[in-house]
Amino acid sequence: MHTQARLIAVTHPKGGVGKTTTTMVLSAELAERGHRVLVADCDAQASASAWANAAPEGKPFPAAVVNLSAYAGKVHREIQKHLDNYDFIIVDCPPGLDSLSPQSVILVADLVIVPLPPSPADLWAARGVKRLIERGADFNPALKAVILPNRVVRTSLSNAIMQELSEFGIPLMSSRLTNRTAYQEAVVSGVSVSALGRDAKAAADEVKALADEVLALLGDGK
Ligand SMILES: Nc1ncnc2c1ncn2[C@@H]1O[C@H](COP(=O)(O)OP(=O)(O)OP(=O)(O)O)[C@@H](O)[C@H]1O
Ligand SMILES: [Mg+2]
Repeated sequence: MHTQARLIAVTHPKGGVGKTTTTMVLSAELAERGHRVLVADCDAQASASAWANAAPEGKPFPAAVVNLSAYAGKVHREIQKHLDNYDFIIVDCPPGLDSLSPQSVILVADLVIVPLPPSPADLWAARGVKRLIERGADFNPALKAVILPNRVVRTSLSNAIMQELSEFGIPLMSSRLTNRTAYQEAVVSGVSVSALGRDAKAAADEVKALADEVLALLGDGK
């Protein structure tokens, strides 16, 4: 049966919260499972594209990457051109509350993932994304949105914020990415976390759990 790609937007108005990291580790994991995956890089900084280009000779980044940052508020139309050729399209959104691409991608997305480090400043900034999602849901009632705790550390402040996050109004994923250098290494070298081998096993397990949960949320058993 012919099916169209499921569209996942990774967005948060604040810089440096882990949007590109989430996009790259998730897309690599899904691609290594045999799915056809496209990363739509909507950030003019083009980090996703740059990091995929850093892949070793002869071992390309497992997902395809296309830079769509020039399309800004028209990016949803451009993405739709790729729907027939992929199983998943994962959109790395730029930071900034006024950016047009997150607003336009949310109109056509199946799932929005909001990476969120459990710190007070990041929690504050996430209120903007909540408004963005609520507005998007008016036009796209099937839209699902979840928070992915990122760079989680085991401190009492972090635990307290995680508790607060669970009451934020956007469901919290059960998976989380803890603070690990393996994520930095994998992403800057254009490889999947599992390609880093045994030393990165704990990170690879977190990414597998993330991919399993995303597939369950999309509910198609792909
Ligand atoms: N779980 C993690 N553990 C360790 N380092 C992380 C983790 N997540 C992200 N980082 C690091 O934090 C920095 C910012 O992450 P990333 O580039 O993914 O954020 P971003 O939200 O895409 O930023 P921008 O808004 O600038 O595009 C990077 O150096 C990245 O390697
Ligand atoms: Mg980024």
